[in-house]
Amino acid sequence: MKLKLRPPLTGLLLLLAAQIPFSAFAAGGDNKLEIFSWWTSGGEAAALDTLFAATKKAIPGVEIINATVAGGGGSAARPVLQARLAGGNPPDSWQIHPGWELLGQYVAANYCEPITDLYKSEGWDKVVPKGLIDLMTKDGNTYAVLVGVHRGNVLWYNKKVLQKNGINAGDKMTFDEFFAAAEKLKAAGVTPLAVGDSGIWATAQLFENTLLGTVGPQGWTDLFTGKMAWDDPKVKQAAETYGKMLAYQNSDHSALTWDQAVKAVIEGRCAFTSMGDWTYGEFAKAKLKDKEDFGWVSHPGTDGAFIVVSDGFPLPKNAPHRQNAISWLKVCGSKEAQEAFSPLKGSIPARTDVDKSKFGPYHNWSMQSFAKDALLPSCVHGEAAPAAFQQALNDAVTTFVVDKNADTFVKALAQAAKDSEMAK
Ligand code: GAL
Repeated sequence: MKLKLRPPLTGLLLLLAAQIPFSAFAAGGDNKLEIFSWWTSGGEAAALDTLFAATKKAIPGVEIINATVAGGGGSAARPVLQARLAGGNPPDSWQIHPGWELLGQYVAANYCEPITDLYKSEGWDKVVPKGLIDLMTKDGNTYAVLVGVHRGNVLWYNKKVLQKNGINAGDKMTFDEFFAAAEKLKAAGVTPLAVGDSGIWATAQLFENTLLGTVGPQGWTDLFTGKMAWDDPKVKQAAETYGKMLAYQNSDHSALTWDQAVKAVIEGRCAFTSMGDWTYGEFAKAKLKDKEDFGWVSHPGTDGAFIVVSDGFPLPKNAPHRQNAISWLKVCGSKEAQEAFSPLKGSIPARTDVDKSKFGPYHNWSMQSFAKDALLPSCVHGEAAPAAFQQALNDAVTTFVVDKNADTFVKALAQAAKDSEMAK
């Protein structure tokens, strides 16, 4: 059925149209920019604001529409985005993770335009590590610009709480050392481990980190390339260690978001949290100081490895405000914007030509780790595996948190890997 305008309505529309300047109807004539992300926590929002401020300088008079969908890790945002993309209603750019998420979900579905030319004109091809560019490149075309690189496998702690309990986290930590510290804290009435898994991904990340700490970088690569089976005894061992860690978590974990768990560490209600370094953004927002108020160490067993959780932005096909979208991408890839964004976000710049003296102890530690350690893509954040496997991992974790059955857990993962195109 065709929708017909009734005459009085037509008249009203004509009247309204007569009062609106013609320029408002010209394609792309409105000076707007809609950016879609899940950056809503205190630290995330503050960091996003620095990008918006730089964009406002680059595009005078631009009106930025901050289209956020709350929920760490983007688990709530991605379905909303998918519906918009499928409905032909893209924002001007949106938050992506490189690897499977960008290439498998957005590029393969034909939602993105290549931005390879920008890599040349802006000189990004000379300052962004090739390994990262490769994760965004298909058939010689590159599809997104990265604004920062998070380290996923970090164990954060409230320094004063550890000191008070005579615990020294050291430069690296084994699982045994973690459990010894956890016992001591528990005996002193402190909850050892903060988890906020109202979005299941946060506890899936605790497993991801524990998996790496158990199988090591080579095992990680073997698992995601099909050389090691997901029901290998080592994966089972990782599940058991993860289960043991869960015994030390806060009882209200499933009611909290990841940043509420960080808050529990900030306030000294819990001692540790294993989480990507967006955690740093929450510490910074609360005006806590590196190495004085909080400390960090690689998640047990993962020293020498860096789980990459990188954030980027693509150019959609039919961007509603294409020129502004391109200006946004240029800002995201610029040295100035990355230097302003990272200290608030916790990530390190994707560019390697930044002035390191502008960064504090944590960022310098992470930059050094990035330069020398094994760089591995994250599964929980969509880089290492297709969306279906990422979902299967979240589902298996959801069940495991309740039944702690390592056998069913690894079986579910092995089946999901078989069903997935990941290692084919
Ligand atoms: C990740 C994202 C980070 C951070 C985190 C928590 O997926 O890459 O930038 O926002 O989720 O929301």
